[in-house]
Amino acid sequence: MRIAINTGGGDAPGLNAVIRAVVLAAERKGWEVVGIRRGYEGILNDDPDGLIPLDRQAVRGITHLGGTILGTTNRGNPLDFPVVQPDGSVEKIDRGDELVQRFRDEGIDALIAVGGDGSLRIAAELERRGLRVIGVPKTIDNDLASTVVTFGFHTAVQVATDALGRLHSTAESHRRVMVVELMGRDAGWIALFAGVAATADVILIPEIPYSLEKVCEKIESRYDGENGFAIVVVAEGAKEQNHDAVFLEKEPVDGMPRYGGIAERLAHEIRERTGKETRALVLGHLQRGGEPVAYDKALALRFGAAAVGLIDQGVSGCMVALDPPDVVPVPLEEAVAEMKFVEPEGEMVNTARSMGISFGD
Ligand code: F6P
Repeated sequence: MRIAINTGGGDAPGLNAVIRAVVLAAERKGWEVVGIRRGYEGILNDDPDGLIPLDRQAVRGITHLGGTILGTTNRGNPLDFPVVQPDGSVEKIDRGDELVQRFRDEGIDALIAVGGDGSLRIAAELERRGLRVIGVPKTIDNDLASTVVTFGFHTAVQVATDALGRLHSTAESHRRVMVVELMGRDAGWIALFAGVAATADVILIPEIPYSLEKVCEKIESRYDGENGFAIVVVAEGAKEQNHDAVFLEKEPVDGMPRYGGIAERLAHEIRERTGKETRALVLGHLQRGGEPVAYDKALALRFGAAAVGLIDQGVSGCMVALDPPDVVPVPLEEAVAEMKFVEPEGEMVNTARSMGISFGD
């Protein structure tokens, strides 16, 4: 057997742990493993360094490393590949069949595709076109419906919670409102978990559109005369009632829309309305960088080993998923059919509300 592994989309802490588990589990079966560089780019473009042999030595000591030793990209979807025309316009072409053929040319029997919803959709389509594929779910956003949790999420929550904890003292010293923007795209999981863990005063998530008036009411209630401070956590995709989310780039030629800017806007509005000194902070890619927390390392290693196990059983077209206490296969089609959002009436939101945390509604 010769299997390939790639990492696609935004990186997430734990990718290297998946790679290590795949290589070690495959090697014990006497299989060969190759890593594809930068998503599908390495194999599609026939890059000289596009495929790298992965053995025990190559994956030594990488479990604790952030990022991915293979590189990744969230651009250049092979099924909707942007090609610049002589007149400067961009035409999208489908290179899926070409890609499947490249796998055959390389003698690759199966692919382990590690990615979020976008990468797993590509993997599902390649499987339909004849490639044996097992998906491994990755994203700090935790927005994949078929797995209880994705690796990378707990690390992002830990980083965000630590940052929010540190902001308390400076906010209190200056009697300021601190507005902190966290990642998550259309899902508020990181903001919700970090906001609760760090005991924020206000948590704003895409699933619960907020009223500026209610946000400011809560902030005012945190001040007693001149004393007081407030911590507002805002998910990058959060939106004010009857307004759109705030984007840095809404329709990029290639890749996903880029959220960003809500914290600065909200800080300005809070300052205008309450007269309180307010500062905005965007935590950004810090949430994705560095060493995974232990939970993510263990989950990523479990996912990697399970993916090899499924290939060994002759399974294809499935994603490994956490269904505690087990890691189970879920059809890829089903895994990417819907996204997982925070339930506005769910236990976690209710817990936060019961402690007086406002969602601005
Ligand atoms: O999907 C993971 C994620 O980190 C999102 O939370 C965020 O919106 C996006 O990726 C950022 O993408 P990029 O790395 O392209 O800036």
